[in-house]
Parts: sequence; C-alpha cells; structure tokens
Amino acid sequence: MLQNANVDASALRLVAFGQRLFRGRFMDGMQWYDSLLDQVLLKTAAATGGQWFCELGCGFGRHLARLGDAGYGGEYTSTGIQLGRQLGIDVQAFDFYDQNSYAMIRPRSVVFTCAAIEQLPSADAVFEGLRSQKQNVVAVVHLEQTYLKHRRFTRLGHLQNTYIERADYNRDLNVLLQNQPDIELLTVDYDIIGLNPLNPHSLFVWKFRM
Ligand SMILES: C[S@@+](CC[C@H](N)C(=O)[O-])C[C@H]1O[C@@H](n2cnc3c(N)ncnc32)[C@H](O)[C@@H]1O
Repeated sequence: MLQNANVDASALRLVAFGQRLFRGRFMDGMQWYDSLLDQVLLKTAAATGGQWFCELGCGFGRHLARLGDAGYGGEYTSTGIQLGRQLGIDVQAFDFYDQNSYAMIRPRSVVFTCAAIEQLPSADAVFEGLRSQKQNVVAVVHLEQTYLKHRRFTRLGHLQNTYIERADYNRDLNVLLQNQPDIELLTVDYDIIGLNPLNPHSLFVWKFRM
C-alpha cells in the first residue's frame, strides 16, 4: 500500500520529543506512539479493574484494531463508522457534544481519546458527558495535543502554540483537567511525542474521585 502511494516508509523525518527535534524513521515514531498507548491502556486497566477499552472519536478504529474484542469505539463521521465496521471493529455513532451519546460507555471501561478532543474548541462537553456515565468509567486516558501557552519557551514551543491558535484547535483540555474537584489526575506527561512536530501529543491519565 505504502509503495502504491509512493511513500518511502524508511525516509527520515523530524519527530518532536519534549521541546527537542529528532530525526528518525516515521514508521518507528508511529510504532513508538502505538506501543506507548497500548502499554498505558493495559497498565491503567490493570490498576483500575478495567475490562473494556472505549475510544471516543476513534476514526475507523486504528487503535481499536490492536485491542481485539476488548475494544469498542464511538465516532462522529459515517465514513469512519462504516470503514471501522468493515474492518470488524465495534464502532458506534457518537458525538462529543451530544450528552446522550455517552450512554454507549459500558461498565468498567477505560475510556481513551487520541487526537480527537484536539478538534473541539472546548473540552467542556467531554467532561460533562463522561461525568454523566462516571459509574461506568474506571479511568480516562488522553493522548492529545495540548495548548501550553505558559510552558513553551523555545522557538519550537512558540511555533507549536501558534499552530494550535491558527488551526483553532482545543486550548482548554489541560486547564480543565487541573480544575475539576471530582477528578484525580494520575499521570501528566506534556509533549510526550510529536509525529507532527508542530502538534505534539501530551499524555493524561485520570479518574473520577468516588
Ligand atoms: C485526527 S482523527 C483521530 C482518529 C483516531 N482517534 C486516531 O487516533 O486514529 C480525529 C477524530 O475525531 C473525530 N471527531 C471530531 N469531532 C468529533 C465529535 N464532535 N464527536 C466525535 N468524534 C469527533 C473525527 O471524526 C476523527 O475521527
């Protein structure tokens, strides 16, 4: 497939780790990203008694495809839902802004998002939706782009913030996570990897205080 698309998978690209750029093979970066996510999900499920992995804004289910029968997801686009189902993945219609959508979350689910909340100007609706199902949510994992106005001081960091501003990507996930009294933040790792160096992802793991 990659050959058909004339993409050289072994070509060296720039990938960001923290505020530094490294040259490496893009496919290695992808593998690193996927394996980080898988490890965090498994560790989180083990620590919290999770039995399901629920990805919200899952696209066609690229990550769910690795999680087998334990994974299911919600997606806004009908094309994502159709393609996911063709691939044998359990994908249902879901909209972050529709509070009724969150009823799809099964008991004992580790809910996760990757590069999906980034597309919402505000993450407010996400917290309200998850809160409405908090009895079913054992933990939440985000690998999401994060607006860090007061944490990025390098030229690269300045570019990353500007990228988010110009694209009108999410700017409040990090702030909201720090300010919810009913949320316990378990892990925060800013700018853990940027396959697109201008749009690095941060890792957050949290759970509701019960
Ligand atoms: C960059 S893609 C990431 C897909 C997948 N999470 C992944 O990492 O491969 C962003 C996804 O968020 C979904 N999305 C955007 N707005 C959404 C909304 N309001 N409700 C549910 N999904 C949404 C998009 O349809 C898309 O599938």
